[in-house]
Amino acid sequence: MEMAIRNYEDVDSWKTVMFLYTSALKEVGTKLEILNDEFQHVHSYNPIEHIKTRIKAPESIVKKLKRHGHETSIENMVKYVNDIAGVRLICSFTSDIYKLAEMIGNQTDLKVLSIKDYIKNPKESGYKSYHMLVSVPIFLSDSVVDTKVEIQIRTIAMDFWASLEHKIYYKYEGQAPEYISKDLRECADMVATLDDKMLQLNEAILACLEEQEVQKLERVRGAARSSRQEGQMSQSQSA
Ligand code: GTP
Ligand code: MG
Repeated sequence: MEMAIRNYEDVDSWKTVMFLYTSALKEVGTKLEILNDEFQHVHSYNPIEHIKTRIKAPESIVKKLKRHGHETSIENMVKYVNDIAGVRLICSFTSDIYKLAEMIGNQTDLKVLSIKDYIKNPKESGYKSYHMLVSVPIFLSDSVVDTKVEIQIRTIAMDFWASLEHKIYYKYEGQAPEYISKDLRECADMVATLDDKMLQLNEAILACLEEQEVQKLERVRGAARSSRQEGQMSQSQSA
């Protein structure tokens, strides 16, 4: 490393910045894997289907700075581009998203800088996802630097839609014909219906399992009661 980094103002080289973002991605990725493993350990259930991490390509960083009317500089990129380090969490059900968001919010070493809930308020395109901008402290040999990571949380169905929509439309930046965006919005509605249905089915199965457990317990209790009664009867007969 070329210099001691104490805070963002000291960050002046591309290599140093990228080193910080790569480290932040590793920190957050590991943290989320641990949370998922702990959830599996305690509740025998995995809220995360899979985790994807990526560092934004240099050309995309430059493009984003230009789009927002900023000059291309390391300082501006650190200040204005929030998604240089990105983590995507793919869950099974919408309810998992809010569980995970809460778990992330409860991590005392992560600072939640902002939240965009595109599930409650989908984008005009139909895009749904829960975005959290967090900062994670990166412990260097002689300093600690808070580094930003964008976490996107979505279901498998939302991810399916977003990935294909990105290929089909997002890159056109609004120039595709209106009927395509209309059809894509309809697809987003279908995906949302699918998510709701799957969540309902999961809840129904959980309720059935719970009912089965209650019945099993009642049967065991009933059997214990009758064997006690039989014992008492045979005692009174022999008395
Ligand atoms: P970007 O400049 O696109 O990063 O947007 P932003 O900085 O205003 O933030 P926003 O929360 O709107 O979007 C952040 C990210 O969410 C994007 O980089 C995409 O990964 C994703 N995203 C947002 N809108 C859409 C959309 O309409 N379609 C798809 N496929 N992805 C989207
Ligand atoms: Mg982005």
